[in-house]
Amino acid sequence: MTEQPNRIEALTQRLGSHFAAALLHDLSDAVVVVDESGQICYVNPAGERVLDYRHGILIGMPFTRLIPAEYHEPVLAEIARFRETGASELVGRPRELVGLRRCGEPFPAEISLTVCYRDTETYFIAILRDRSEEHALRQQIEAHARELERRNAELHERTRELEATLRTLAETQAQLAQTERLAALGHLAAGIAHEVNNPLAFIGNNLAVIERDYRAVLELVASYRRGSPAIAAADPGLAAEIRAREERIDLDYVLAHFDRIFTGTREGLRRVRDIVQSLRDFARMEEPELQAIDLLACLEQSLEMVAFRIEQLGVRVEREYRELPTVRGHPGKINQVFLNLLDNALDAIQQAGRHPGIVRLRAEPVAGGAQIEICDNGCGIPDAVMPNLFTPFFTTKEPGAGTGLGLSISYGIVKAHGGTLEAESLPTGGACFRIWLPSSAGDGAAVPAGRR
Ligand SMILES: Nc1ncnc2c1ncn2[C@@H]1O[C@H](COP(=O)(O)OP(=O)(O)OP(=O)(O)O)[C@@H](O)[C@H]1O
Ligand SMILES: [Mg+2]
Repeated sequence: MTEQPNRIEALTQRLGSHFAAALLHDLSDAVVVVDESGQICYVNPAGERVLDYRHGILIGMPFTRLIPAEYHEPVLAEIARFRETGASELVGRPRELVGLRRCGEPFPAEISLTVCYRDTETYFIAILRDRSEEHALRQQIEAHARELERRNAELHERTRELEATLRTLAETQAQLAQTERLAALGHLAAGIAHEVNNPLAFIGNNLAVIERDYRAVLELVASYRRGSPAIAAADPGLAAEIRAREERIDLDYVLAHFDRIFTGTREGLRRVRDIVQSLRDFARMEEPELQAIDLLACLEQSLEMVAFRIEQLGVRVEREYRELPTVRGHPGKINQVFLNLLDNALDAIQQAGRHPGIVRLRAEPVAGGAQIEICDNGCGIPDAVMPNLFTPFFTTKEPGAGTGLGLSISYGIVKAHGGTLEAESLPTGGACFRIWLPSSAGDGAAVPAGRR
């Protein structure tokens, strides 16, 4: 390098002071030269423009004029350190600092400081680049980014809200469809119950008459049979004819099975009556007489009724009862609901062969009413079964094991009480039935709860 002529030096030699003057005059960065005492001894035109001073005004002023007061101390300390040690953070590398315009407005600036020695004097040359536009731009970009982020979050929130609304809508729609379907079925059930009820009444009456008369006829036949030797003596032909007829109708068998046949028929009739009654319950044909109900007592009574099955299946009953608000209704009907649900839970446990089977009973005040949950760890409810659960005569049980009326009746009863009955298949297996009945207080105030 030493053999190469230094072009800058050559240029300076050729152009003399014109070179530096031209350079400083047209430079877009501000250049401020400060002497050892801290006085400004040169500011180029760009510097006067940036700092907003008229030409020549700054000469002789302390350089501290050009930086805000809070930076004076650290900058002076740094210069003192440089004087003592010849090293400084400020010298030789560009730094972010704050400049001060004539009007007192601070502005962000990038400052590079170099030192120039001449004989015994030291000069500091500061090259200062106004970064305010860049800063303003960055701030604008940051503000835009923040705004974008805010809008993005808002959009996300709106999307979540919309999704939730959509879900609620779908659920409501499904519930509405279910309610409408069940209402239609209710009408149908009411119609059938009504139509069947009348013939059923006269079949019942006629059956009683037939049974009474038939017994009388049988007594008459017994009397004739006692007189059969006399008939045979008097008229052997007639006696043979009577015997033939007796054999044809298998009179001995008829006599022996008479009671069983009538008992079976009466039982069948009773079952048809029960079904009709169930349909009437589902269709809410009779408004129950309302009275205050102790729901937990009803639940315990219903449990009593299935105690034998619970023991037989080795089922564990877990209770979580909280005090409930008063509910008005028909205790017998509510018992019937609990019994149906408990029966189903035990059936499901039995079907799944769970050991131990668990029935979890939970009672708590919810939304201005009382909520009872009857859950089991049984076979669960397949998705395909769910929509038909409350439909009369829908059953997945063996023929003869279930009529498929339990849940539809329960639904009708709970509805007649102004409540709701919902089913849920548990992800852990098993099913959960949730009954909610409105509090009779009417104001929705639930009794403060405590465990029972
Ligand atoms: N806890 C449960 N777990 C699994 N499936 C259930 C449960 N409860 C009800 N189900 C399903 O719902 C169907 C209808 O129940 P519902 O009580 O109406 O009739 P059922 O029990 O079959 O007959 P019924 O109650 O008239 O003797 C059942 O056959 C069963 O498939
Ligand atoms: Mg049932």
